[in-house]
Amino acid sequence: MNKLYLGGSIFVALMLLFTYISVAGSKGGLNSDIVNMLAVAGAVAIVVITVFVVIKYVRQMQVDTASGELAKESWDGIGEYKNNVPMGWAIMFLLTMVWGMWYWLIGYPVNKYSQIGEYNEDVAVHNTKFQEKYKDISGDKLVEMGESVFLAECKVCHGLSADGIDGKAANLNKRIDAASVKYIIEHGSNNKLLGMEMPMPDRNALFNATSGALITDAEIELVANYVANGMSGEGADVFAGACSSCHGADGKGVDFVAPNLAQYTPALVVNVLNNGKKAAIGAMPKFDRLNDKQKEAVGAYITSLSSK
Ligand code: HEC
Ligand code: HEC
Repeated sequence: MNKLYLGGSIFVALMLLFTYISVAGSKGGLNSDIVNMLAVAGAVAIVVITVFVVIKYVRQMQVDTASGELAKESWDGIGEYKNNVPMGWAIMFLLTMVWGMWYWLIGYPVNKYSQIGEYNEDVAVHNTKFQEKYKDISGDKLVEMGESVFLAECKVCHGLSADGIDGKAANLNKRIDAASVKYIIEHGSNNKLLGMEMPMPDRNALFNATSGALITDAEIELVANYVANGMSGEGADVFAGACSSCHGADGKGVDFVAPNLAQYTPALVVNVLNNGKKAAIGAMPKFDRLNDKQKEAVGAYITSLSSK
């Protein structure tokens, strides 16, 4: 007998022995139920077929010699036989192309059911119902709804009392702190706080009209504290000279030009929710999955915090 077949048979016998030992050793043993027997039969079939198929190809590699017509190309003496594509492959290839066209034109995902689509439709229906149900609430009720949204969605970063948890996120009980104002003057800002693209220039373009020169470090310090103190204290003249042309004399902002720095407004909060915000403290993700009423409510809640 050929050495290869002998080795193969021994290997099969060993595998079957291991299979027998592990099944017989398992709870209930070999004869306990039909599933064990089926598993053993499957294992036997897989082992036998695998070993003999492998042997067949190893034999073929040992004894086969190359034959057939050579292609004309030759790479440093190494040639290639002309072989036709096997019929089975060719058919599979064509069928794959047909299936691919079917998949894109008729089947999933172009115009058929999808789970994401169904989810989005359900959310849209729910949001319409929600907005219909609550369309008339306002005042304290709106603030209450905003508080509950805040507790569910925002508390993790801004903290239960919206104080920003020791500087991890913005403290929403006051409009803005001095470090944040300084950062914006140094770096500029482009967070769509007005709901549209309208960047704030950085210090290289901030002229103080009173002095007629670029804003200085000392002036930045002054004006940052002035804004953070709720538009009061020293620095009023710097604000008037360098900032009021856009933010308004009282810092309450100008529509489509610059946002309100003196206090939160629901519209400002909604813009932060729609676009997210990146500045001195870090990055706030956008929350555009809240529906319009929820955004309005949370805007009312935050506005109410700083005006208490
Ligand atoms: C050319 C107009 C312009 C001038 C001048 C200007 N700003 Fe702004 N500022 C903007 C705009 C526009 C935004 C909104 C940017 C955005 O969407 O991110 C902004 C945003 C800000 C913010 C960010 C508010 C927030 O919630 O993060 C601060 C703080 C600020 N400005 C302070 C100042 C100060 C202080 C000055 C004066 C030294 C000044 N700005 C001068 C246009 C201006
Ligand atoms: C993953 C943490 C995180 C979550 C969740 C989060 N925020 Fe923020 N938020 C931040 C950070 C950080 C900032 C500060 C960005 C900056 O100025 O550097 C911020 C800033 C803000 C600002 C702007 C403050 C300012 O003075 O301009 C508002 C308004 C705000 N968040 C409201 C909310 C609301 C409402 C929610 C819930 C719907 C919320 N945030 C959820 C991290 C978060």
